[in-house]
Amino acid sequence: MSFPKGFFWGGAVAANQVEGAWNVDGKGPSVADVATYKPNTDVKDYKSHVAMDDAHIAAAMADPDDTYYPKRRGIDFYHHYKEDLKLFAEMGFTMLRVSIAWTRIFPTGEEAQPNEKGLQFYSDLFAEMHKNGIEPLVTLSHYEMPLALATKYNGWVDRRVIDCFAKFCHACFERYKDQVKYWLTFNEVDSVIRHPFTTAGIIPSRVPEDKMLETCYQALHHQLVASAMVVKDCHEIIPGSKVGCMLTKLTTYARTCAPDDELATQAKNLENLFYADVHVWGEYPRLILKMFERKGIHVEMLPEDAATLKAGCVDFVSCSYYMTMTESVDPNAERTPGNTVLGVKNPYLPSTDWGWQIDPKGLRYSLIELYDRYRKPLMVVENGMGAKDVVEADGSIHDPYRVEYFRQHISEMGKAIDEGVEMWGYTTWAPIDLISASTNQMSKRYGFIYVDQDDMGNGTLARSRKDSFYWYKKVIASNGEDLD
Ligand code: BG6
Repeated sequence: MSFPKGFFWGGAVAANQVEGAWNVDGKGPSVADVATYKPNTDVKDYKSHVAMDDAHIAAAMADPDDTYYPKRRGIDFYHHYKEDLKLFAEMGFTMLRVSIAWTRIFPTGEEAQPNEKGLQFYSDLFAEMHKNGIEPLVTLSHYEMPLALATKYNGWVDRRVIDCFAKFCHACFERYKDQVKYWLTFNEVDSVIRHPFTTAGIIPSRVPEDKMLETCYQALHHQLVASAMVVKDCHEIIPGSKVGCMLTKLTTYARTCAPDDELATQAKNLENLFYADVHVWGEYPRLILKMFERKGIHVEMLPEDAATLKAGCVDFVSCSYYMTMTESVDPNAERTPGNTVLGVKNPYLPSTDWGWQIDPKGLRYSLIELYDRYRKPLMVVENGMGAKDVVEADGSIHDPYRVEYFRQHISEMGKAIDEGVEMWGYTTWAPIDLISASTNQMSKRYGFIYVDQDDMGNGTLARSRKDSFYWYKKVIASNGEDLD
């Protein structure tokens, strides 16, 4: 029996990728509402998809339409959530990871009082989850900060945003204290380096190129301080609550055993882990502070920040896991895209159509590494495969590739548990088709549930079960034993 009794099985989504209703019931625009679908851009060129500047924001805001701004419409979960939760319950979900759109609660981030209609929406959503036997796991910030804070302050670069976020989180804890026990502060906090606008509202064209890295680390520092503040606040308001951090687990192997490749790989992995280090231990690793110094990076930290970080350590560690990469110092080594990264290709692994290398054993490796390092319970809160699905004439959708992906990853997760890793749960990305975070495509499908909508927003939004739906249902019913 790999999976403990009471292990949480479910799925994960983010408000900006599913809800739609971007300007309904008082919601303000978020950074996601100006993210653009670029039909003629190579999907493997992630940098072009996440690029942003002031002119683009102004043009987007002058355009009330959602055709090229798919996150404005999502899959209209805002109006379909009851139906969707029923389908998740039918699969046997015991947990659903959702995020709260900050701009439903504070439309510009700076209002004195929260928007009641926004608060009520999530109250209703959480109540409906409980009605369906589904425990909410709630991310407070998942790529959807108020656009107003991005344009006014250049996002998290400005320290004043900490208080805006703390106020938003406080309102959530007060309102949902009887409904939500499990929380995450920032989705993939490490991603600020890879897509500064999406993660931290930083408008890159406002920052000189040679100051970009320093600017990202400054914004990150503010997020880490804010995270620690709200962890403490949550513990005080909701006794017994569990607050976790969330890392993009970008495990990197050395391309060869040449010592230079090993050293380059070690540096990559240390960089990936340091974000979680701060969340777990409440202080920056010395090696990272030295790296800042070596690179001439100055991050402004106030004297009181050290105590704040120490007082807000997380209860558990969570991560997304999609792929691994390798690293090499050879400039000619072939590269391939992963989750908003470009890594050296691993010849032993297959890739998805988006170039992400599929590595189930890398999940076992990553979980053992994380558990050994932090000795905290783990949750995998995103894992899945983007693929193009075909709807047959009779309406059925056969997705053996998805079943195979999950079969192998769940099996490796079970082995990690058998080896001693303590895990609380697993939420797949994503149980239902949604808008891609990086490319804004609908056709990059992740779900067990198909949604009838194309990249331009055409379709009935009808939901239907793929073959993988029935397979995951069986997996959950057997608590991970039956993976056939
Ligand atoms: C994770 C994000 O990095 O990857 C999700 O937290 C995202 O928001 C997921 O959707 C998959 O990436 P993409 O670009 O295929 O949607």
